[in-house]
This record gives sequence, C-alpha cells and structure tokens, in this order.
Amino acid sequence: MSTYIVLLGPPGAGKGTQAKILADTTKLAHISSGDLFRENIQNQTELGKQAKSYMDKGELVPDDLTIAMIRERISCAECNKGGAILDGFPRTPAQADALEKMLGEYGGQVNAVPYVTAAESILIERTGGRWLCRETGHVYHEKFSPPKQTGVCDIDGSELYQRDDDKKETVTKRIRVYFEQTMPLVEYYRQRGRLIEINGVQPVEQVTSELLEALKK
Ligand code: AP5
Repeated sequence: MSTYIVLLGPPGAGKGTQAKILADTTKLAHISSGDLFRENIQNQTELGKQAKSYMDKGELVPDDLTIAMIRERISCAECNKGGAILDGFPRTPAQADALEKMLGEYGGQVNAVPYVTAAESILIERTGGRWLCRETGHVYHEKFSPPKQTGVCDIDGSELYQRDDDKKETVTKRIRVYFEQTMPLVEYYRQRGRLIEINGVQPVEQVTSELLEALKK
C-alpha cells in the first residue's frame, strides 16, 4: 500500500527543508503545493496568473484551484510511486477532506502528519534570510545554512533568489492566515491519531532525526 506523509507547520518552520530530506531518505515523491504554484507562475500558465494574485498578498489560493492541481499531481503514477511527502497541502479542512477522498480512490490514506512548530520571531528570521536556487530549488539561509559563495548555488552554480512573499509584511500576513485557516488541521489530524509534534527549533539534522524516529513508530 502507498504511504502518504503530510508535513504541517507555519511558514518558515522548515517543512520544505525536511520534506526534501525525507523524500531522499524514503524515496517517496515530494509534492509541494507552493513549488507547483511557483512553477506555474514561472511558466506563465493561467493557474499561475490566478495563484500569483493571492500569493503576493500572503493569502491562500482558493481551494478549488489548489485541490485540482494536487489531484492532477497525485494521479500521475510515474511521479508518485509508492506514495508521497505532501508539503504545504492540505491547508484547510476542505482540502484535507478532498485529500482523504482522493487517496481513498487509490486505496491509500494519510499515514502520518508531522507538525513542525517554531515561534513567530523565528519564522520571520528564517523566511527573511532564505535564498533559493533558480534551477534546483535548493534552499539556503544566509545565517543558518549559507552557500559557500554569496548568491550562488553550491550544487550547480546557479543564481540564488529571494521569494517575493518573504518580505516581512507578507510573511506576517501568511502567519496570520496560517493561524486562522490552517491551525484547525492540527485538531483534525490529532483526532484521527495521525499527528506527531516535532520541535522545529533545533538544528536541521536534529529535526530530521526526531522526525525519522517518530515516523518509525
Ligand atoms: P509555500 O511555498 O507552501 O510556503 P509556506 O507554507 O508558507 O512555507 P515556506 O516555504 O515559507 O516555509 P517552510 O516551512 O517550507 O520552510 P523552509 O524549509 O523553506 O506557500 C506559499 C504560498 O502559496 C502560500 O502563501 C499560498 O498563497 C500558496 N499556497 C501553497 N499551498 C497552498 C494550499 N495548500 N492552499 C492554498 N494556497 C497555497 O525553511 C525556511 C528557511 O529556514 C530556509 O532558509 C531554511 O534554510 C531555514 N531553516 C529550515 N529549517 C531550519 C532549522 N531547523 N534551523 C535553522 N534554519 C532552518
């Protein structure tokens, strides 16, 4: 049976960082709703144009657009062998219900929901110092995990950039939206016995080992 792990947590908690490591370790696919929207924006698709207007304001993209995008990605058997690490989806109870239904169609379910936590001041510091590789999407932080050469990716030498929605005022809005619209999912998954609380305020490697240890159980 396929395995699906949902990474839950506020902006900047370290979901993307951990999702990439988990995907490498478990060989599951990494499905990031934020990355899929950014790909659509870069490719100037209709979905990208619609998503950008919400992302720039720090708001959630409407459920119907988001669910349709994830449904298409999950239904792609080649890019989803054995299950996936879901990073940034679901983000509302309606999305969580849609996910249960979708996975049910493939005889799967959400197996575990690591919930990565960190205080607001840390979230702002982490998003404010984040740099990403244009080619690979590899994530750096100017203080916590700097590249060897400023502005250049260690892996492929590509240019590093900062996300438009990582400006302090947009991050503050994203955090507010997270508390209003996504926090209900903590109880949603706790009641279903899937929630695993993970302390995100430790070095990346320690967060990973806490995660892997918890997932073994
Ligand atoms: P999305 O791209 O999903 O962003 P997010 O959830 O706000 O999360 P982030 O990517 O900001 O943070 P992260 O937790 O992944 O942290 P990271 O590992 O990079 O969504 C963007 C937008 O798209 C949303 O606002 C919305 O508009 C839209 N959207 C996406 N999904 C949607 C959905 N389902 N429904 C509707 N709309 C949706 O780490 C951050 C930084 O900290 C990095 O620099 C990293 O190097 C560093 N770092 C990580 N871990 C540590 C550590 N342990 N110690 C020190 N530094 C660390």
